[in-house]
Amino acid sequence: MIDRQTVDRILSTADIVDVVSDFVTLKKRGANWVGLCPFHNDRNPSFYVSRAKGICKCFSCGKGGSPVNFIMEHEQLSYVEALKYLARKYHIEIQERELTDKERAEQTQREAMLMLNEWACQWFEQQLHDTDEGRDVGMAYFRERAFSDESINKFHLGYSPENRNALYRAATAKGFNRQLLFDTGLCTDDNHGGGYDRFRGRVMFPIFNVAGKVVGFGGRTLRNDPAKYVNSPESIIYNKRNELYGLSQAKRAISKENKCFIVEGYADVISMHQAGFENVIASSGTALTEEQIHVIHRFTENVTELFDGDAAGIHAALRGVDMLLREGLNIKVLPLPEEDDPDSFARSHSASEIAEYIQANETDFIRFKANVLLKDCQGDPIKQSQAITDVVGSIANIPSPITRSVYAKECSTLFGVDERMLLHEIQKRINANRTEEAKRKQRERERARLQAEGVIQPQADEPEATAATPAPTVITKKAEDEAGNEVIKQERELIRLIVKYAMCFFCDTAYEDGSSRPTTVVEYVNAELQLDDMRFSDPLCQKIFDIAINLAPTFYQDWEQYEQQIEQERKNFITEQCRAAVNPDMGSEEIKRVEDKITAKANAQAQAAKNEFRQDYLVKQLVSSPDTEVRNFAFNAATSRYQLSKIHTQFATILSEFDRLETLVPGTIDRWKSAIVQEKINALQQKINECQTAGGDDKNEELLAYMTELSIQIEIQRKLSKLIGERIINPRATKA
Ligand code: CTP
Ligand code: MN
Repeated sequence: MIDRQTVDRILSTADIVDVVSDFVTLKKRGANWVGLCPFHNDRNPSFYVSRAKGICKCFSCGKGGSPVNFIMEHEQLSYVEALKYLARKYHIEIQERELTDKERAEQTQREAMLMLNEWACQWFEQQLHDTDEGRDVGMAYFRERAFSDESINKFHLGYSPENRNALYRAATAKGFNRQLLFDTGLCTDDNHGGGYDRFRGRVMFPIFNVAGKVVGFGGRTLRNDPAKYVNSPESIIYNKRNELYGLSQAKRAISKENKCFIVEGYADVISMHQAGFENVIASSGTALTEEQIHVIHRFTENVTELFDGDAAGIHAALRGVDMLLREGLNIKVLPLPEEDDPDSFARSHSASEIAEYIQANETDFIRFKANVLLKDCQGDPIKQSQAITDVVGSIANIPSPITRSVYAKECSTLFGVDERMLLHEIQKRINANRTEEAKRKQRERERARLQAEGVIQPQADEPEATAATPAPTVITKKAEDEAGNEVIKQERELIRLIVKYAMCFFCDTAYEDGSSRPTTVVEYVNAELQLDDMRFSDPLCQKIFDIAINLAPTFYQDWEQYEQQIEQERKNFITEQCRAAVNPDMGSEEIKRVEDKITAKANAQAQAAKNEFRQDYLVKQLVSSPDTEVRNFAFNAATSRYQLSKIHTQFATILSEFDRLETLVPGTIDRWKSAIVQEKINALQQKINECQTAGGDDKNEELLAYMTELSIQIEIQRKLSKLIGERIINPRATKA
């Protein structure tokens, strides 16, 4: 579908830090980047991204991989769809041929639904801009609301005509399958082989997911319809609990400002953007869900809720915030003037007025809540004690003990009660919450057990999406466990070393013409295998090995270029550093000392860069392989145990594995050979036993042949064991 060259271009262009940053705010830590894992409920950053290796990995749940893997997993896309996603992101043009029937069938339901929505979104936009009805009705409405052209385009607003099935007809004419129209909820079945449009006569607000795909629509009526907004029904691509309106357009600003404003509705988001505040998203009229909060947390920990200044608005603001506190977010609230909602407020004020208003009125949530409740008490001691209990309940949700104690102090002043008493009450609440949480977990486990045993049905409200989306490519150690067999175990160990170190220089090989050339690990192994005419019995190992061997010529080309570049950088570094460090007052001896020191540093840097280049070369290719098995194996090899680890002492272990290659690689080959020989020995002994049990003179010759062969194999095994033993007892000098 996509030609090889384009695939290579996509893979070499996609930058893992850049790709992940669309979904997670990353912070630099040492050589890596870290953030909150998007694949599980992560409260402390466990998601590591290595730009040099081109991979990411969660050290808590284990998920991750190359840019392609990450997109596959995060967006639940196939390999090819993930490539297309990256191509779009990097503006790489894909020349596609027509799909074959088989490929068309393989296109997943999810992808097909997203494609239909994408088309429908454009169709609604077309209706708005290019038809009389669209301009006279839809556009007139947007104008009346003072939505600018820029906003209309940025949010891809559209119009759905009055006609009962205009979209249905256009979509089916375009070749979209009618079931798909029902599955996405764009149409409903008319029970006469046709369909009705769900959104007829409404202006359209497409709902984009965080990756920028249209997962659903909201349609606003232009009449007095009691259903002011009609939304797409839940489906495998649209789970209301996960989506936040405007996030796709706001995420960069949220990440950049490290802050996010939350409003209620579609119009609020658009008006705020239009006023110049782009870090704004909407909960779409309902209380924030836990899922939405996790998504927000991936981009920032600072959240400000905007709400209407009337009593109802204030009341609503107090609800649902405890969940945000529990997530460890810093919550502020911004009450608007009584007559305003964010939409009207943004339209009636200039950007600087809005900024000033925020500056003056944004209030810490706990402080706000305590003040509101206190105002309601008016000296009534019972009400006051209820208010304290209420605030204590909120504070108990805050994970940080330091933050909790700051609030306890402040509230003790505000309510005029003893600080230690407040702290004590807070602790009591924390303990009660913990017990409650433990009970809830216990109930959940019990329910899961009963479900597994088929005693009860899964709950109806469980999101369908979990069942319908393809199983995630969880990277497990299963492959390694399966290798109970010693031969395969050693093969895999050898391939693991190859994945990590294939292109590292290993030893010099002398050639007949008297020249000598450095040999890489994979070349060394290849030569050894050819010598004994060995192949891998595990097809996956052979596959990876073949890839590595075939890559060698390209590697040498790239390496030559890279070496020149590093050499140039090394020289520049020395020149610049010496120029800065040496001054005419220094004696010649001192100058030499300084120069030597700088040179040594430059050499070390160059060496480290070269090592890294060689170590990462094959991994970078393999983790993006279209072959799932290859990809998973490479990902495990590259990240298992010591790689990307946050603990520094473990880093030393990587170095030592690299340093011990000279003994590790031949040792593994020997252990592999030894395992093969052992299998032969076992088989021969079995045969000999059989012969002896069968008895009879005619078996004697056969028996003798087996015995002879057995003694040969035992001798080979003895030599191998000696070699292996020597390697263990006598590790050779480490590589420079
Ligand atoms: N909403 C919804 N479905 C409804 C009503 C409301 O999804 N039937 C969501 C929409 O996201 C809406 C938000 O809740 O934007 C807030 O609802 P409301 O205050 O009623 O609408 P406004 O955003 O004020 O809409 P408008 O300004 O267009 O009247
Ligand atoms: Mn409104």
